[in-house]
Amino acid sequence: MPSCRPPSSRRLLPWFVLLLLAPAQTTPARAGTLPPIAAPHGLVACDHHLAAAVGAQVLRDGGNAVDAAVATALALAVVYPQAGNLGGGGFLLYHDAQGRAASYDFRETAPAAAHERMFLDERGAVRDTSNHRGPLSVGVPGTVAGLWLAHQRHGSRPWAELVQPAVVLARNGFAFSQGMRDWCDWLATTTDTLHAATRDAFLADGVRALRPGETLCQPELAATLARIRDGGAAGFYEGETARLLAAFMHGHGGLVTEADLAAYRAVEREPVRGTYRGHEIVSMGPPSSGGIALITMLNQLEGDDLAALGHNSTPYLHLLTEAMRRAYADRARFLGDPDANPDLPLAMLLSKERAARLRATILPDAASPSDSSAFAGAWLPAESEQTTHLSVVDAAGGAVALTYTLEESYGSTLMAPGTGFLLNNEMGDFNAVPGRTDRRGAVGTSPNLVRPGARMLSSMTPVIVARGGVPVLVVGSPGGRTIINSVLQVVLNVVDFGMDIRQAVEAPRFHHQWLPDVTQFEAQGFPPEVRRDYQAMGHAVKRRPPQGIVMGIVVDPQTGRRLGAADSRSFDGGVDGY
Ligand code: DON
Repeated sequence: MPSCRPPSSRRLLPWFVLLLLAPAQTTPARAGTLPPIAAPHGLVACDHHLAAAVGAQVLRDGGNAVDAAVATALALAVVYPQAGNLGGGGFLLYHDAQGRAASYDFRETAPAAAHERMFLDERGAVRDTSNHRGPLSVGVPGTVAGLWLAHQRHGSRPWAELVQPAVVLARNGFAFSQGMRDWCDWLATTTDTLHAATRDAFLADGVRALRPGETLCQPELAATLARIRDGGAAGFYEGETARLLAAFMHGHGGLVTEADLAAYRAVEREPVRGTYRGHEIVSMGPPSSGGIALITMLNQLEGDDLAALGHNSTPYLHLLTEAMRRAYADRARFLGDPDANPDLPLAMLLSKERAARLRATILPDAASPSDSSAFAGAWLPAESEQTTHLSVVDAAGGAVALTYTLEESYGSTLMAPGTGFLLNNEMGDFNAVPGRTDRRGAVGTSPNLVRPGARMLSSMTPVIVARGGVPVLVVGSPGGRTIINSVLQVVLNVVDFGMDIRQAVEAPRFHHQWLPDVTQFEAQGFPPEVRRDYQAMGHAVKRRPPQGIVMGIVVDPQTGRRLGAADSRSFDGGVDGY
């Protein structure tokens, strides 16, 4: 382990004293009976209680939701390296209390040397899972540019002040938690040189997994963060960090160069918008499929009295499944990087008229086959389930929903020596084999093929639901393609079933994604008779592990109180505010 002394409150900055004093929120049992966490002014909900405390302190200091989101995201890059990151990418959605919304796309890009056959062997098959594993799977990171751009546009506190808590967490360390233990046990078994920097960063003396409670210090990460603190985005995309990253890539067959890093740009994009039962739905457009698919599903469901069907009743599961099937078929057929596909039919996909036509094809008591010509398209590539979402509401009623990822848990698991942060394996989100689409899982549809500089299609779905221009619900989740369905179900739980945010987040979830044509149910919460009747309609079913990790905040329209919940599916998640 890097030399490291336990944090001492004497020598720390004032904010960190507060951070140390903040009650450590441990993961609650899956108990829907606990109330949400309430605060009158501002709240942060995210996947690690230490990062939530950092964001809450920014709010207390007068920062707005974007300030808090930036500080929280950078702190997560230290304390939650499974998915919190500097080496990945994602999306930030901001909505103020006057009806204005903006979204920031900091999705990774394909390096300039990338091309659509880059993962293929001479027979045209994917070589050694190279799109998901190893240096070729690494896209140009977007996170630092995205946080920087959002802060430039909306931030109210100095940038350096927002980065400093992460620097201190990395330098002085934090208590290692059980959440990272399994991965570090795996890391301790790998001996290849490619992972040398990763082992040095996370293992004691480079060989032993820390025990929960031991202090993990990350001095190289602290130095990288200090360069970001002092130089802004240029402190990452130019200079020492860029040189170290590009040298590692060059030495191991990766494609990301210093020129790719210098050329990376986060992009402000128009959020996608829909309406649902008098609420405004605001979310992320392409290169995420999440907002469009969510609105397509809500549009199909709006004409039905879901509450009358009953939460997670057989007819409810059937209707949602069919709406999911149709939205995910659209996703595969139409969506990809908007810059590489200037003709994406967004207006058509978001329209109520089209949703009505889709709804009209749903049979009341029988499953529609996914491979009927009505839904013909492509299989989707396998994705893993590790990403992270944070939700923030500030004292003025402004809100941020931010979802970002390394793709798989710990991304590519690769780290450039001297940098201290993990690199993504997001290139796996491109369609790997052009023109080949088959039932074994290959997909080759055009909108999401690898192109130099292009952004790979995502499912991340940061959502802000507003009424009269004022945010009332902020939500998002990890989970690959399950993200969109997890977010859908939480929105319905709040809007249609009147659940409080904790009940809404904790309720059992299910997933259907068009292909493969099987519905996955979480193990708990779907009674056998409900599943039996559902199968009798022609649906194939399968049990799945916990689906997503939702971080949600609602604003009570009567009292203005902010009410938050960190999903108990999270190991270390927390809600903090004032
Ligand atoms: O962008 C996407 O949709 C995926 N790369 C996200 C991966 C993910 O969510 C994995 N897990 N939680």
